[in-house]
Amino acid sequence: MIQIADEKRTEPMNENPAEKHIPVLLNEVLEYLDLKEGGLYVDGTLGMGGHAQAILEGIGDNGQLIGLDRDDRAIALAKRRLAKFDGQCTFCHDNFYHLNRVLQDLDIDSVDGILLDLGISSFQMDDPDRGFSIRNDGPLDMRMNPQAQITAFDLINSLSEKEIAHILRDYGEERFSGRIARHIVNARVEKPIETTNELSQIVLRAMPFSKKPKGERIHPATRTFQALRIAVNRELEALEQFLQFGVDFLKPGGRLAIISFHSLEDRKVKITFRQMAKDGQVKLILKKPVFASDEETSQNKRARSARLRVVEKI
Ligand SMILES: C[S@@+](CC[C@H](N)C(=O)[O-])C[C@H]1O[C@@H](n2cnc3c(N)ncnc32)[C@H](O)[C@@H]1O
Repeated sequence: MIQIADEKRTEPMNENPAEKHIPVLLNEVLEYLDLKEGGLYVDGTLGMGGHAQAILEGIGDNGQLIGLDRDDRAIALAKRRLAKFDGQCTFCHDNFYHLNRVLQDLDIDSVDGILLDLGISSFQMDDPDRGFSIRNDGPLDMRMNPQAQITAFDLINSLSEKEIAHILRDYGEERFSGRIARHIVNARVEKPIETTNELSQIVLRAMPFSKKPKGERIHPATRTFQALRIAVNRELEALEQFLQFGVDFLKPGGRLAIISFHSLEDRKVKITFRQMAKDGQVKLILKKPVFASDEETSQNKRARSARLRVVEKI
């Protein structure tokens, strides 16, 4: 069963949201990355730079961090947050599955640690114009990289009923995938489906009466939105590609830490890490994933579904 994070609603957009953002599983990431003073680290999902800031503080004045994000707006925010570490950071607007190319361009063979904190940030979720939010109406976009070609609008308005149902089932484990896909295809005969509100209303109408929300924990369209987001951004493909080579760029003793938010991602990480351990490439630092403490989940709903896995290169 996929566990899906409910949409996190935080305060309204702030002038500088990066400064307010609290990274998920921060203490655990710092502990298990086992930071080395003066080390070289990669944050493959820079976001608002929360984990990156803590890593930079942990590795001292001689440490270096390479930060990647496929969202140039996230890079801009992180740059502001990390301005005080001038000279210690390299920012790359790129997908982490291109890390091999990024490191080659920088003439770097290996690093002391790599962190991936998968999914989207609250900064992306909370901006209605990005089209990730069920509760705040916006265009059906959902691209993490605003320069990417395909939007959620394109998928919803051009794929066949069968293809939409597949996406909802495979990436959202939505048990009403067939009904929802049929309602989507019927609705778009009238006019294209353009906004997040229109889509969530269609999903609600597709739900059998008895399944309509009565104080439900998550919005009934959550699985549909998450599935579409995964499809638009080809999230699982990016993770799969990265997992094939990520460890190759670690120094012996270097660590790879991955935080995932649903079981589709976590399963890929778990299986790959176990296989690499069997092949003698890595040591499993955690036999089981680490979850956020009750204290953290009470302050940050998104942390409820976060889980961390870590391996060390042999
Ligand atoms: C959960 S946020 C990371 C938050 C960050 N750890 C912090 O403390 O602020 C995930 C970020 O990763 C980026 N991202 C997701 N998939 C990516 C990929 N394949 N390549 C590069 N960046 C990605 C998203 O754009 C988003 O900014």
